[in-house]
Amino acid sequence: MIEAKCPQTVSCSDILAFAARDSSGGSISYSVPSGRRDGTVSNQNDALQNLPPPTFNVQQLQSSFSSKGLSMDEMVTLSGAHSIGVSHCSSFSNRLYSFNSTYPQDPSMNPGFAAFLKTKCGDPTVPLDVVSPNRLDVRYYKNLRNHKGLFTSDQSLWSDPSTAYMVKENANNRVEWAAKFGAAMVKMGSIQVLTGNQGEIRKNCRMVN
Ligand code: HEM
Repeated sequence: MIEAKCPQTVSCSDILAFAARDSSGGSISYSVPSGRRDGTVSNQNDALQNLPPPTFNVQQLQSSFSSKGLSMDEMVTLSGAHSIGVSHCSSFSNRLYSFNSTYPQDPSMNPGFAAFLKTKCGDPTVPLDVVSPNRLDVRYYKNLRNHKGLFTSDQSLWSDPSTAYMVKENANNRVEWAAKFGAAMVKMGSIQVLTGNQGEIRKNCRMVN
């Protein structure tokens, strides 16, 4: 354990930033600057207020990302992280059932994919990218082109012409996307960080000291 070997030196925030990079399964490598300090307050609502919900359209996503200094291209690039991990059905079930008064389900979703998701919703979670769930890759963008994005926020990147060409570009340029992804992760990892005498180094990442 780091804290036992080297007390009050490495923050939980830095450990998380390294872990986020390393959990990409080695397919993407970039250097993560360190020096973040941990907050002395931990509140679930703070996170929720800063994270866009999966029901957002491109305009809403853009305003959320730009409020943190991130561009539209960085937003589309970072969304590629949805090629790994899982989601609860509640994050997209609005697209499957009673969508609106005209459509029983979201017409921007491939009907076969919608039927598949309905069979999966009995499980606790569904893979974000059903084709290659454990690999961080450009499959996410290819899925969007096939109308197999899980969230409204994902599929809108293809529906909206202001981002569709970026989806196309990323889908066809794995190496270029990986480089942009690393750079955007470093930028995102520098947003509103505590440094110097701010905050603290937590002894236990689950709680403030
Ligand atoms: C564009 C705006 C975004 C929205 C609306 C969004 C929304 C969501 C939602 C709703 C989930 C599933 C939560 C659940 O039901 O359990 C999720 C999972 C995830 N998101 Fe995002 N996200 C966004 C951007 C990002 C970014 C920028 C990253 C990282 C660079 C990211 C990485 C992930 C990962 C890795 C998971 C899977 C977590 C797991 O397996 O437990 N997302 N996201």
